Amino acid sequence: MLATLSLRALCAADRNGILRLLESAGNFSAAEIAVGMELVDHALARPGQADYRFVVAEDGSGIAGYACWGLASLSDGTWDLYWIAVSPDRQGRGFGRQITEHCEADVRREGGRCLLIETSSRAGYEGTLAFYRSLGYEVLARLKDYYTTGDDKVILGKYFPR
Ligand SMILES: CC(C)(COP(=O)(O)OP(=O)(O)OC[C@H]1O[C@@H](n2cnc3c(N)ncnc32)[C@H](O)[C@@H]1OP(=O)(O)O)[C@@H](O)C(=O)NCCC(=O)NCCS
Repeated sequence: MLATLSLRALCAADRNGILRLLESAGNFSAAEIAVGMELVDHALARPGQADYRFVVAEDGSGIAGYACWGLASLSDGTWDLYWIAVSPDRQGRGFGRQITEHCEADVRREGGRCLLIETSSRAGYEGTLAFYRSLGYEVLARLKDYYTTGDDKVILGKYFPR
């Protein structure tokens, strides 16, 4: 049975909680965390901006997870899921699935054709890949040694009938 989760818009008070979440996730480098927080700060500094959409998930004990997604520049209905993370102590309860489904519903509402996800092939991401596969995402491309030698960029995606 799915645990109760409420999904809501990002607000300024979420900044520290999201930072703690990214730091505790375990598989993000300092540089990746900095980029993730840049997107949070971009959105908080520009109310009404449409480049980066956010959803924050709460389960009664604070921030349980969040996601950030947006329309790929110059595309006709291709969307990117830039970030998704669930607090380590709340993983495996269906929260990641609910958050992703929220993003997918938004993309479909906007007439989006597909949602893409870029991730890493390095050790520690096996569970993340299994997560996306279980949600119906397929590996569309793999760019060998993209991040560094031995660390490929894996591009997954799901297409939505219009
Ligand atoms: C990836 C992540 C968001 C998944 O969130 P979650 O809340 O634990 O996932 P859920 O409980 O919703 O799982 C949904 C499905 O994925 C599967 N899954 C999730 N994590 C898995 C793992 N480590 N190994 C295998 N399957 C996994 C579940 O079995 C479940 O399948 P089911 O619905 O068919 O039973 C979470 O583990 C996380 O934040 N990881 C660290 C950050 C990260 O890697 N983010 C993505 C960067 S690209």
